[in-house]
Amino acid sequence: MMKKWMMVAGMSGLLVSSGCANNGGEENGTDEAEETSSGASKENNEDSQEATKNNAEENTEEAENDGQSDAGEDAPETEENGDLKNPAAVDALINREYHLPSDYEPENLVIPDVAFPFEGEPQKKYMREEPAVQLENMFAKAEEEEIELSAVSGYRSYDRQESIFAANAEKDGEEEANKYSARAGESEHQSGLAMDVSAASVGYSLTTDLGDTKEGEWLEENAHEYGFVIRYPKDKTEITGYQYEPWHVRYVGEDLAGTLHENDWVMEQYYGEEFEKDSSNSEEDK
Ligand code: DAL
Ligand code: ZN
Repeated sequence: MMKKWMMVAGMSGLLVSSGCANNGGEENGTDEAEETSSGASKENNEDSQEATKNNAEENTEEAENDGQSDAGEDAPETEENGDLKNPAAVDALINREYHLPSDYEPENLVIPDVAFPFEGEPQKKYMREEPAVQLENMFAKAEEEEIELSAVSGYRSYDRQESIFAANAEKDGEEEANKYSARAGESEHQSGLAMDVSAASVGYSLTTDLGDTKEGEWLEENAHEYGFVIRYPKDKTEITGYQYEPWHVRYVGEDLAGTLHENDWVMEQYYGEEFEKDSSNSEEDK
C-alpha cells in the first residue's frame, strides 16, 4: 500500500534544512550524496565521479539534429522565461531550456511500495501516483526474474534542488556540477516523475557501474514496458547535456516510452530540442 504525501511545503522545508546543510542527511539512512548524482557517488565511492567522466568522454556523439524533431513533434509551450505552460504534463520536456516554474509542486505525491535502502518517509521517497504504481509493477516483475532493484531518490522540491545544486557547485564549481546536477527548475526530480534506482550489487550508490550489472541491464531493457525511460543514456550525453546516468528513470507514459525505446531517441530528439553547449546555454542565461 503506498503512502500519500502530506504537508508538502512543511516537509520540504524540513528536509532542505536537515538534508542539505551538511550535504549529508544521515538521519534518512542514505545521505544526500545520492542526490548529487555522479557526485553522489563521490561521497560513498570516490571513483564514481571519475568513472562517470570517463564514460562521458568515451561516449560523446556529435549532435546531429538541426532543431527539427526526429518525430515531427512540437516542443512544449513555454513562457518567455522558459517556464513550461503545462508543467504537470507527463510528457513534459524538462531540461536547461524547458523549466518547471519555481512554485510548481506536483499533486498526488505518494510513496511507492518498493524497496528503499533507508527507513522513514523523507521527501525523496515520493513520486506522483501514476509513476509510483508503474514503479511498483516494474519492481515486482524484476523480482519475479530475480532482479532486486532499490529506489533511492524520487521527488525533490525546487528549494531542495536549489540547495543540492549549490552544494555540488561549491564542491566542483558550477560548470562541472551542472554536468551531473541540474539547477533548480531544470530537474526532472521536481516533477515527481523521476526516480533514481540502484541495487545492492553496487552498494545502492548512483554509479555508472550500475549499467554493467544485471540489474542495470534489466532496467535498460524493461523500463519502457512500464512507461519509464533511462533519461541520460551513455551514448546521448552530447544531446541531453548530462553525463551518463543508468540509474535515473523518468516516467513519460507507456506510449512515449515505447516510441523512444523503439527509435533509440531521448526526449530532446523526440522534440527536436537538443542541448547546445555554446549558444543559448551560456552561463549568462541562467
Ligand atoms: N542528475 C539529474 C540531472 C538531476 O540533477 O536532476
Ligand atoms: Zn535522478
